[in-house]
Amino acid sequence: MKKVVILYWAKGGNAEKAANVVYKKLGADKADLFDVESFDTSKLTDYKLAILGGSTVGADNWEDATNDNMWNRFFREIENKDLSEMTFAAFGLGNQMLYPDNFVDALGVFHDEIIKSHGKIIGRWPVKGYRFTNSEGAQKDEFYGLALDEDTEPELTDERVTRWLAQLDKEMGF
Ligand SMILES: Cc1cc2nc3c(=O)[nH]c(=O)nc-3n(C[C@H](O)[C@H](O)[C@H](O)COP(=O)(O)O)c2cc1C
Repeated sequence: MKKVVILYWAKGGNAEKAANVVYKKLGADKADLFDVESFDTSKLTDYKLAILGGSTVGADNWEDATNDNMWNRFFREIENKDLSEMTFAAFGLGNQMLYPDNFVDALGVFHDEIIKSHGKIIGRWPVKGYRFTNSEGAQKDEFYGLALDEDTEPELTDERVTRWLAQLDKEMGF
């Protein structure tokens, strides 16, 4: 039975912390965990679901392929593969109090890049309960993936991840 792969960037911060929460809840029998730099993209299709996690730290980070955001490299590597059989889900870290106009924008980047590779996306998440004014990571009343705010609502992360994983399980079955 194929496993789930959890990929995150950057290392050493809240994205890694949240990735570990996801990994612990799924368990080593169902999931593998890698920072995206250490992951060999030719192995992607060995997995039934790829869960991608990252933080929003400004648009430059996502648009400049020469910087150290390894998601750029990952997406350039996968854009020529046929991933139409592959399913993705994403979680994004942000701060709704300091960045209410750009809350978890990175979820929008994940969404657009996955669509470019013809992958399927599951795990949309309601915006209800969050306080922000604008987000590239949301469409109408849903984020493209799970929004996490370790800066202002760290106490909600664990439960949000539990509920989100239950939703992913319902959507595709682990
Ligand atoms: C320079 C900088 C820019 C940021 N810009 C945004 C932003 O545009 N939108 C947002 O939701 N959060 C923003 N944040 C908050 C981070 O996404 C948040 O602190 C996150 O938990 C950091 O995760 P990391 O430690 O894995 O990088 C920014 C943080 C920094 C330091």
